[in-house]
Amino acid sequence: MRLTLIFLAFLAAQGGCFTTRPYDVSSTVNRKTELFATRRDVLIQSSGLVLASLLSGKPAVAAAPSTILVTGANSGVGLEACKRLAQDGHDLILACRTMEKATAAANQLKPLGGGGAILPAECDLASLKSIDGFVNKLPGLLGSGAKIDAVCLNAGLSRNTAAKDCARTADGFELTVGTNHFGHFYLNHLVLPFVNPNGKIIVTASGVHDPESPGGAQGEPAGLGNLDGLARQGKSCEMIDGSPFNADKAYKDSKLCNVLFTRELQRRLEMNAITKGITVNCFNPGLIVGTGLFRDQNPIFTKVFDFAATDLFKVGETPDWGGGCLGYMTTVDTRGLFYSSAPGSSKYGDAAFGNQFQPFAISKEAQDDAKARLLWELSARELGISA
Ligand SMILES: NC(=O)c1ccc[n+]([C@@H]2O[C@H](COP(=O)([O-])OP(=O)(O)OC[C@H]3O[C@@H](n4cnc5c(N)ncnc54)[C@H](OP(=O)(O)O)[C@@H]3O)[C@@H](O)[C@H]2O)c1
Repeated sequence: MRLTLIFLAFLAAQGGCFTTRPYDVSSTVNRKTELFATRRDVLIQSSGLVLASLLSGKPAVAAAPSTILVTGANSGVGLEACKRLAQDGHDLILACRTMEKATAAANQLKPLGGGGAILPAECDLASLKSIDGFVNKLPGLLGSGAKIDAVCLNAGLSRNTAAKDCARTADGFELTVGTNHFGHFYLNHLVLPFVNPNGKIIVTASGVHDPESPGGAQGEPAGLGNLDGLARQGKSCEMIDGSPFNADKAYKDSKLCNVLFTRELQRRLEMNAITKGITVNCFNPGLIVGTGLFRDQNPIFTKVFDFAATDLFKVGETPDWGGGCLGYMTTVDTRGLFYSSAPGSSKYGDAAFGNQFQPFAISKEAQDDAKARLLWELSARELGISA
């Protein structure tokens, strides 16, 4: 029983939504916290989308991009998104941990038709050398002068919540934050010159970045403190806030970094005449036990709770839904927002995109502009790139 309860809590923490208290748009947007700045952004930008939709009589989506880079394209949310995007005829660059995985994904996607190019590539986000190698090959993959219309920074890992050892990336960063945040930060830095001036950057974050969300409230909450660990110990820190390694918190911290990164990147892009047309948004695909994210957890419990969350309590989502969320995010024109939906929204199907799945308020900590800037500066410092 105790194990069951712990696992329920764990499940909730990973997905961000498993609860009897609905995590819906109204309860989140109306909750009495200091969400004013972000809530204003959400409302202004959301109403703009709705108005445009009403005036045109068309769904509130922007023109679809045509060349899309997806990290973590061989599994779960990334693969499911690529299935949809391939069918729609987009050219896809599949940036995967190994060439074998990228090729296997390409072999699944090519028969789906659509006519776009399906380009497998190796990009291990836990190795700066591998990211360098990937970006060096981009001009050849893209063809001369061609640009990327959408960059989906989607890959992610979650270690067994009971793990005690602080595993490291090839360059010495703690593995979870090192992959989910630092790897994407470095990749984004190198890829930006290849992005269409009106392109889109999409970050797969999670509801667990928010300790006030049902999932984020389970276990150890996300929290970067004043970034003491990163500031003082640099990449050799175990946790950004300077605390000892905690696998559960490392995942949630990495997702908080994703949201802070999204907002700070948008701000920085807007300050530059060349990049000001690029939009950056992040999203929560909801609790999807059926992807590979839970592969490091006990497999029997993962199966049982996949059934419980998805089939019994109906608060879980399907991998196809997650792919739909990412696909939809490649069409939105908002700036620096976080999208999410109430648990079990996949029951609405694709009609939920732009309706139940829409801009959501972010956590108090994720609204901290000064923290977003500091995280950016320290991340750049540790990666040896200009801030
Ligand atoms: N599933 C959920 O409940 C849930 C909820 C909220 C947010 N998310 C987010 O959704 C995103 C996708 O996760 P998922 O649920 O689809 O899980 P998944 O099936 O495990 O997919 C994760 C992808 O990331 C890749 N990846 C991990 N480490 C990598 C590295 N070092 N270099 C390159 N790629 C790497 C994996 O590649 P390999 O196959 O080689 O490991 C895989 O393709 C993640 O960012 C996750 O945090 C998921």
